[in-house]
Amino acid sequence: MTTHSIDQPIPAHPIAVVILAAGKGTRMKSDLHKVLHPIAGRPMLLHLVASAAALQPAKTVVVTGAGREQVEAAVAPLGIATALQAEQLGTGHAVAQAREALAGFEGDVLILYGDVPLVTATTMQRMIDRLHADDTPAVVVLGFRPENPGAYGRVIADAAGRMDRIVEYKDASEAERAVTLCNSGLMAVRSSDLFALLDRLGNDNAAGEYYLTDIVELAAAAGRSSAVIETGADEVAGVNSRGELASVEGAWQATRRAQAMADGVTLIAPDTVWFSHDTVLGRDVVIEPNVVLGPGARIADGVTIHAFSHVEGATVGKGANVGPFARLRPGADLHADAKVGNFVEIKKAVIGEGAKVSHLSYIGDADIGAGANIGAGTITCNYDGYFKYRTVIGAGAFIGSNSALVAPVTVGAGAIVAAGSVLTEDVEADALALVRPPQTARAGWAKRFRDGMIARKAAQASGK
Ligand code: UD1
Ligand code: MG
Repeated sequence: MTTHSIDQPIPAHPIAVVILAAGKGTRMKSDLHKVLHPIAGRPMLLHLVASAAALQPAKTVVVTGAGREQVEAAVAPLGIATALQAEQLGTGHAVAQAREALAGFEGDVLILYGDVPLVTATTMQRMIDRLHADDTPAVVVLGFRPENPGAYGRVIADAAGRMDRIVEYKDASEAERAVTLCNSGLMAVRSSDLFALLDRLGNDNAAGEYYLTDIVELAAAAGRSSAVIETGADEVAGVNSRGELASVEGAWQATRRAQAMADGVTLIAPDTVWFSHDTVLGRDVVIEPNVVLGPGARIADGVTIHAFSHVEGATVGKGANVGPFARLRPGADLHADAKVGNFVEIKKAVIGEGAKVSHLSYIGDADIGAGANIGAGTITCNYDGYFKYRTVIGAGAFIGSNSALVAPVTVGAGAIVAAGSVLTEDVEADALALVRPPQTARAGWAKRFRDGMIARKAAQASGK
């Protein structure tokens, strides 16, 4: 993530990304750090890291404060540095904490907020490009025009996007508060300019904080102009509460649904289908209403997922048919044209090409051969309370309804297991296994029983 990939061009200017995440996130009322709350199944901080990775940053630094252990644990595996801001003295102070981590770095610094997770790589690149336009602004600010500008900082700029300053709401005059162009908080600044400007920051303002936004005015005082570029309000929506988390999730899902349809997927009721950050979908996939695709779902061409199914960590091969009301859990691997029907749960199991598990089954830790038919209500008994065991069913085998397959157990290719069997021993290929008490019948018994009972009831009713 922090190294350049061999097949991508090295960016014209080295880029460092600084992500601010030292805020407490009090309004989330959570033991989990705010930036680790997931959107589409991935911590919001990692959405940002993934988008920024497209710019091939030479270095990424996350500024942490409260709950920093959680954040460090989340980013350390990606080789991302963290810098501690022990006290939250403001956004300017926060960025200054990255100075040490960026020692020796010369290039462009892109400042992002960990709780503004949906900013796209395209927008990040636009900010960098603007920084290198002919008028060489000192600071590029990402602005937006929210429906309700509320307490956002206001960007004081001319029509051409040249800025004088950003004024925080608390410090703004009535006239300034009437400005509709707001500061998203995101900025691009050359490293040499950034740290020189941060050195001059004071905290003489309504909040008593070191405002990052003041670097615009400080640059102007040094004779350097700054620029604002605009983006849509949805892209820079922040997350401060569970409600905002849900609306950012909603925005992400809406974008992903539109993408899926543009890529050739039919969504009958798009608003009811949920994707994950890593969902992979083929062409001519049909997804019926109320389907949830958790992390790790890979759906090949021509698959139909019927209503109310839940798929996670599963691979669904070409032309397969899933649901309604199916649950595919991690390690489910459906080969081409397999069928998994209603109220069936599959876990860590291969369902071979064209095999069918049509109704009311649990198939876990199993290998089902091509073309096998698993009857209604079949259960793999894969767990004894301590260990898990595998069930292997050969190609073309037929498992009668309501069978319990007590693993480890193997049924050979083409074998038939009679309905209601509790299988504890292997079955040879092409054999019939029948594990149930023989059927007995007593002629006329039911009628004699009924007649007797009717007579007793009648006697009771007449008080005899
Ligand atoms: C900031 C901007 C404001 C902008 C708004 C957009 C400043 C002075 N103001 O205001 O112009 O409209 O964001 O949402 O920059 N953080 C730290 N350490 C700190 C303070 C903040 O890491 O000491 C982080 C927070 O975790 C958060 C981000 O910086 O990710 C923004 O902080 P926040 O307190 O929300 O800034 P605002 O006052 O909303
Ligand atoms: Mg804020």
